Amino acid sequence: MNTLVYLNGQFMPKAKAFISPDDRGFCFADGVYEVIKYYKGKAFGFCDHLIRLKQSLAGAKIRFTGINKLEELCNELIRLNKMGNEYAGVYLQFTRGVYQRMHRFPDETVKPTVYINTYLLAPFIQEIKYGIKVILREDIRWHRCDIKSIMLLPNVLMYEEAVKQGAGECFFIRDGYITESTHSNIFAVKKDIIYTHPDSNHVLPGITKKAVLRICKRIGIVVKEDPVRADEANQYDEFFISGTGSEVMPVIQLENMFVKDGKPGPVTRRIQHEFFRATYGEIADDWDFKDWIG
Ligand SMILES: Cc1ncc(COP(=O)(O)O)c(C=O)c1O
Repeated sequence: MNTLVYLNGQFMPKAKAFISPDDRGFCFADGVYEVIKYYKGKAFGFCDHLIRLKQSLAGAKIRFTGINKLEELCNELIRLNKMGNEYAGVYLQFTRGVYQRMHRFPDETVKPTVYINTYLLAPFIQEIKYGIKVILREDIRWHRCDIKSIMLLPNVLMYEEAVKQGAGECFFIRDGYITESTHSNIFAVKKDIIYTHPDSNHVLPGITKKAVLRICKRIGIVVKEDPVRADEANQYDEFFISGTGSEVMPVIQLENMFVKDGKPGPVTRRIQHEFFRATYGEIADDWDFKDWIG
């Protein structure tokens, strides 16, 4: 099927969507993005994504004036691609536009390049059920990780290393503390209390993280937005990650160390249960949640 995409004001077949080699995104990774998951035609946290997008655009000093039209455009693209009954990702990218390559911003007449596409995004059933191993590496990223920048080379390099080691993510460590991972936020559990890095310039304020915090508040799980020391990771009972693609995924192994008995823990399971019921509805019952919660 030739998917339709949205590029600079028009819907068109992806095969006909061309971007100039002078695009600032191509030359400098000078842009920001969002990924929103659609559950059978219903966007998860669209408003929250828009708020974060505005912050990223402001942080990157990219002037884009069409924020209010984005929801309609994304919904329309889902409809045009006949994904209204699927689990789908919507990717939105905004770069500083097309101009001859130079470090200075182009003049104000240059409009941002706006690109939106959709793709199937099924849940990672095995991983959310059994959990994943992660590797730990120095956080070599910049000091504005709160901006959802398309400049993702450190994330890509570290994720590739994780995959090569049979892991599903890489935890970043900065100044001895676990910050986040290549495309997800991190939670640790000790004695039924959840710990997570506070929002700061060293982590992306995850929309799924926000949803997890809301769930915890509703069901009475205490959360401390305190970062976890990497050298104390062995003192925690559970770890899990959150993200638009990862959703809520248990972490059962850090490098060669199993987390407790190497199985997803009860706090993680409770949060998964709430999250998956809210997003997938009754289909999640077929995933034996009762067994998972145990
Ligand atoms: C570095 C990083 N942290 C956290 C997240 C999770 O954010 P969200 O829940 O909004 O997908 C992502 C998502 O891509 C990410 O790239």
